[in-house]
Amino acid sequence: MRTPVIAGNWKMNTTLAEATALVKQMKDRLDTIKGVEKILCPPFISLAAVGELLRGTSIRLGAQNCHHELKGAYTGEVSPSMLSAMCEFVILGHSERRQYFGETDELVNRKIRATFGANLIPILCVGEKLEERQSGRAEKVVRSQVAGALDGVDSPRGLVMAYEPVWAIGTGMAATGEEANLTINLIRGELRRLYGAEIALETRILYGGSVTANNIGEFVTQQEIDGALVGGASLKADEFVSIVEQSAART
Ligand code: PGA
Repeated sequence: MRTPVIAGNWKMNTTLAEATALVKQMKDRLDTIKGVEKILCPPFISLAAVGELLRGTSIRLGAQNCHHELKGAYTGEVSPSMLSAMCEFVILGHSERRQYFGETDELVNRKIRATFGANLIPILCVGEKLEERQSGRAEKVVRSQVAGALDGVDSPRGLVMAYEPVWAIGTGMAATGEEANLTINLIRGELRRLYGAEIALETRILYGGSVTANNIGEFVTQQEIDGALVGGASLKADEFVSIVEQSAART
């Protein structure tokens, strides 16, 4: 039985003051919800303060990106070993990183390996673009993103994955629960091919892309979907709490 995960990806939103205010608005309510793993991923600059506020609660902390080396002359970058002293998770391979910062499967793979080496848990995102879906290549793209990102990783134990079709992110056009379930089943199949049944069965695979309090039920009731990576709706305290509550109700 996989415990569902709801992760909030705040992206490049919130100042330090706004981040701490947002955590204070939802912390107590989130803390009492059982049966769901709750993860907040604020910007780097707020990790320490948010971590302090979450200390002693059941809410876990993640970052949104990291460099692929543990240290060195990389001005402006943040390394996995810096993060592992501060949080447990890091989002990698997000389509915005791929699209706006030129991240390839190869770079995502280097980051994934560095992350496992530093005792951080990656939340690995994959997903096809609209034109890839329309031309019937979605399946192939997603499979190769999974295999590419995990190349050379012996055992991705603890890994969390997120299927985020690019056309659904921030557009208000979520996939249907059935569509997402099909692709997530395919991702699980790819994990089975690479690592065998045990890893495939225990890895949590989330859906992401325009998840709201209104549509979360459609996703978490699907057999293969183990929760959601939530962008825009994670910045609204009441809505995020409702998303977590509804995911707990599934268990
Ligand atoms: P969205 O973003 O919920 O705002 O569509 C999801 C994501 O990018 O993780």
